[in-house]
Amino acid sequence: MDASFTDWMAGVQADVEDALSRFLPAADAQPTKLHEAMRYTALGGGKRVRPLLVYASGALFGADAASLARAACALEMIHVYSLVHDDMPCMDDDALRRGKPTVHVAYDEATALLVGDTLQARAFEVLAGDDSLPPARLVGMLRLLAEAAGSAGMCGGQAIDLDSVGLSLSLEQLERMHQLKTGALLRASVLLGALCGKDLNPTELEALKAYSKAVGLAFQVVDDVLDATADSATLGKTAGKDAADNKPTYVSILGLEPSRALAEQLRREAHDALAPFGEQALRLRELADLIVQRKA
Ligand code: IPE
Ligand code: IPE
Ligand code: MG
Ligand code: MG
Ligand code: MG
Repeated sequence: MDASFTDWMAGVQADVEDALSRFLPAADAQPTKLHEAMRYTALGGGKRVRPLLVYASGALFGADAASLARAACALEMIHVYSLVHDDMPCMDDDALRRGKPTVHVAYDEATALLVGDTLQARAFEVLAGDDSLPPARLVGMLRLLAEAAGSAGMCGGQAIDLDSVGLSLSLEQLERMHQLKTGALLRASVLLGALCGKDLNPTELEALKAYSKAVGLAFQVVDDVLDATADSATLGKTAGKDAADNKPTYVSILGLEPSRALAEQLRREAHDALAPFGEQALRLRELADLIVQRKA
């Protein structure tokens, strides 16, 4: 990873932290427990991969910083909500997230449920509040986010995940589950970032979709690999959880080395998809590398 990429990444992460803090309710506003818990889980942690994709993709199309901050925060809020619910006892029952006790442990289950609900609502409010974009494009972006979050996206993938405990899925079924539960929000990140800049022509749209399809799947393949190979301190979440819970993953179905090889193949596919953008797509290429080569 070269220094200019690391600096760019740190700059985006700092901007997003600042924007999230502004867009979240103040901790001393009523109801304080809910607002404190929203800030507890959304601020001060996470790799911010979805915001990084928003900014990198937006940079290709001259998007302005204020629009990118709104789109990035909307994506991150939906993502954080998905993590808070994913960790609840009725789902993966995890006690550790981003190096801290999960929301239902630090607060209580009802608060965790409401934190997720309200982060989702706030995400749409923040995106809808962008009054600099043409209204028709903004409505399209809101629809895209809703689809990515809903039963044809993240929630649908989570439903399949929970229904698949103890089952041996086919590779096709596994890929579908991963594309929905994780890929959908990554794809929305890439597309919303670009749409902050302009309406996309069919070539641009197809290239960005092909890129997101590859990085979306790669992201969850690597998540499965790390669950099986890294430790909890490095991950900031409980390692070894998939095997303990009998979840079908790329590691359980394909094995460790073939999973790593698949992630590497997807990284190359992501690079290839960016060909129409030439040198301009440097940050998106570097993010594909980061997603595949990360250690946490
Ligand atoms: C974890 O996402 C959940 C998945 C979709 C695999 P991240 O690995 O992006 O988690 P944070 O945001 O860095 O905590
Ligand atoms: C969850 O996948 C994806 C979400 C939609 C949150 P995982 O259950 O594998 O995520 P981690 O490993 O707990 O972060
Ligand atoms: Mg899960
Ligand atoms: Mg989980
Ligand atoms: Mg996982």
